Formats: sequence, C-alpha cells, structure tokens
Amino acid sequence: MSRIDFEEESRMHDFCYNRKGELCCENVPLRKILEKTGTPAYIYSSKTLTDHLAKLQRAFRSVRPLICYSVKANSNLAVLRALVAKGSGLDIVSGGELFRARKVKCQGRKIVYAGVGKKDEEIREAIRARILLFNVESVPELERINALAKKMRKKVNVSLRINPNVDPHTHDYITTGKAETKFGIDFERARAIYLASKTLTHARLTGVHVHIGSQIETGEPFVEAFRKILEFIDEIEAAGMKIRFLNLGGGLGIIYSDEDPQTADEFASKILPLLRKRKFQVIFEPGRFIVGNAGVLAAKILYVKETNVKKFFITDAGMNDLIRPAFYNAYHAIWPVQKRPDARRWVYDVVGPICESGDFFAKDRELPEMRPGECLTIMTAGAYGFTMSSNYNSRGRACEVMVKGSSFRIVRKRETYQDLVRGECV
Ligand code: LLP
Repeated sequence: MSRIDFEEESRMHDFCYNRKGELCCENVPLRKILEKTGTPAYIYSSKTLTDHLAKLQRAFRSVRPLICYSVKANSNLAVLRALVAKGSGLDIVSGGELFRARKVKCQGRKIVYAGVGKKDEEIREAIRARILLFNVESVPELERINALAKKMRKKVNVSLRINPNVDPHTHDYITTGKAETKFGIDFERARAIYLASKTLTHARLTGVHVHIGSQIETGEPFVEAFRKILEFIDEIEAAGMKIRFLNLGGGLGIIYSDEDPQTADEFASKILPLLRKRKFQVIFEPGRFIVGNAGVLAAKILYVKETNVKKFFITDAGMNDLIRPAFYNAYHAIWPVQKRPDARRWVYDVVGPICESGDFFAKDRELPEMRPGECLTIMTAGAYGFTMSSNYNSRGRACEVMVKGSSFRIVRKRETYQDLVRGECV
C-alpha cells in the first residue's frame, strides 16, 4: 500500500528533518528534548496548533464563527492556553474539563457543554460559570437543566443535539450521527420539544447542535447532515421559534496515512453556501483537526526481537500511552528520531511492553533498521493520545512537552511511582 512520505506530510505540521537527519519539532531536535525528558514523551508544536486554528478561522471568516476547540482531544493546560489566547472557545464534556477551561481563563461565553450524561453538580458548576450553551441530548436532561437553573434563579441557553441519521463513513466507534447510536434526538422528537419549549421557564431553547462523528474525510456527510438541520430550523422558525446559535460540531478528518482529507478551505467551500443569508451565530467544535498533527509520541527501542516469522521493535511506550491502534486499529506513521541514509529497511511489528497482544503501534510495517537505545516517533498522536492514556500495568503516564520556535517546556511531568498510589490506602 502506498503511504505518504516524510516530505509530503511535513506540509501538515512542523515536524521535519534537518540536514543532519535529526527529526525536529519546529527548530528543536527531538534528541535534545529527549535527552532532558527521557521517553516515552508526548511532544507538541505550538505553531502547528495555532496554525490549524487560524486555517479554520480564515476559511470561515465570512460567517465569523465561534470555534470551540474540543477539549477531549487534548486537554493539557498549555494546549488550551495557546488556543484560548488566539481567540478559541472550548467544547467541554465534564466538570473536569470545565475546571481546565477555567484554569486557562476561557470566558464562560465561549464555552459549550455536550455529553449524554451530565450530573447535577456538573450542570450547577456550568450554570455558575455562565457558559454560552448546554448541548442537550434527551428530554430528561432538558428538564433537569431547567429545574436546576430555576433553583439557582438563573436563565440558561440550550441547544438540542439533533441526530440527523446520516452515515459519516468512519469507524463504528466514532460514528455518532446514525439513528441507532446513543447520541442526540431525532427530528420528530426534537420538533415536539422545540414547539413545547415555552413551558420551560429557565432553559431557553435558542440553539441547534449536530455532531455526526469523527475523522470524517469528505464533505458529503457534513453537507447531507447540515442540509437536513437547516430545513428543520426553517420549519421550527416558521412555527414561531427563534434560533440564535447553530453548532455544527467537529469531526473533520486529518491525514494519518494515505487518506486525502479535505483542507479547511475545501470544507468551507462546501459548507459556506449553505449558510448564506443565515443570521445565526455559527459554532464549530473541532478537536482532531487542530491538535492531531501537532503532536507525536516519542519512544525508545528497548529490544529488537526476531522470531521465526517476525521482527519486532519493542518500545518503552505501550498501549497505555496511545491506545488508538489497539482500540480502533488506527494507523499511525512511525519515523526514526535520527534518520540514517545507509539504514536497510525491513518489515517490523512495533509493539509495547504490556501483557496484551493488542499492545502494538504498527504491524508488518516497512521501517529503517534501528538499534536498541535509538528512538522513534509515533506520528499524528496529538489528538486522543495523552487524553486516552491510562496507568494500566502500573505504568506512570508519559510527560508532555510544548515546543515553541527554538525553545521547549515540559508542560506535564512524567508520573512517578508515588503518583500511581496517590489516594490509595492499605
Ligand atoms: N463535538 C462533540 C460533541 C464530540 O463528541 C466530539 C468528539 C467533537 C466535537 C470533536 O471531534 P473531532 O473534531 O475531534 O473529530 N477517541 C477517538 C475520537 C472520539 C471522538 C469523540 N467526540 C479517536 O481517537 O479517534
């Protein structure tokens, strides 16, 4: 199968080789970072992050959207701070994410809150923080928010998340816009809820939300979903409702291997015509598009193992650090930290040290020969990498590093044995 080469992918991010064959993030060789931090380590490029936000802001400037970066993709405070400083809002799904949003001083009026199972305390915290919108996914949740707001004598803005029953053609686990998933509310129910919403004294139904899935590589599913949503809005507005906010979710796909996902401009060229002459505040909730290509996971090769049928690179990073290959069979490119022009190429499995056969980063992958002690990077690991990591096998979670120009900073320390047992007692 053809896979994109180093140079081609370099246009998407700021990881590339210098003349000495060293992989650099912006102007810093990874070798220099790893000498200080050890491995495994997540390394992020500040420039890639903010460039991707800017690409979306530019592509949609004619409708002045509010872009609420989806915190679940990468919730490191330094990542959030960099984006909030460039005007981003935040899309949250828990009290914990609200806590992070407040830590980086994101204004409440730039926060939207999604999720099918919000707890009372989380709802109260969000009301107190004066967030812009609750994205509501069921009638009981709507009633709960109304009742809690009433007790607090506050009015809140609410969008219903519509499930438009559109197939986004992505992995089943990240498909959310089909009727059989737990997400959103079908058109018929939603219509009834909007039309009866005058009875809600403290929840103002002023928005519509839709998010059909993640890693969607073409515009068609979005166009199909948004068309249906706009028809629906026309219908309920004709019946006397006023919609002020249209939240079109996230889901934009990025390059992992040989896909050719659309650019922000191509996406905008399909979506903007639908929004012409519309008056609402448009909101987007991109996660992966902004942070996916902005991060890599660097690991050290501990052993090179040969069996009768395979060659393995055994690394000091495992599925607890990056679960995407194990969980979604996801493809991540693998690059050496030091390129050697004379290196022969073989086919390897790249695996971690964890006691599970699912603990792999690549299978049957042609890679340059590397020796124990050398480092490699698992590319495009900025989104759903660290945030989905765990302490499985009592492994401390990796450190995280932010690079900006010629300098770098550890933005989360590597976890210690003490961190592993914090809160436990015998
Ligand atoms: N808005 C809502 C309501 C969401 O549920 C999500 C992601 C997003 C926005 C951001 O989607 P994005 O732009 O990142 O595609 N762990 C999986 C992805 C799970 C996505 C969950 N929801 C993965 O590693 O591929």
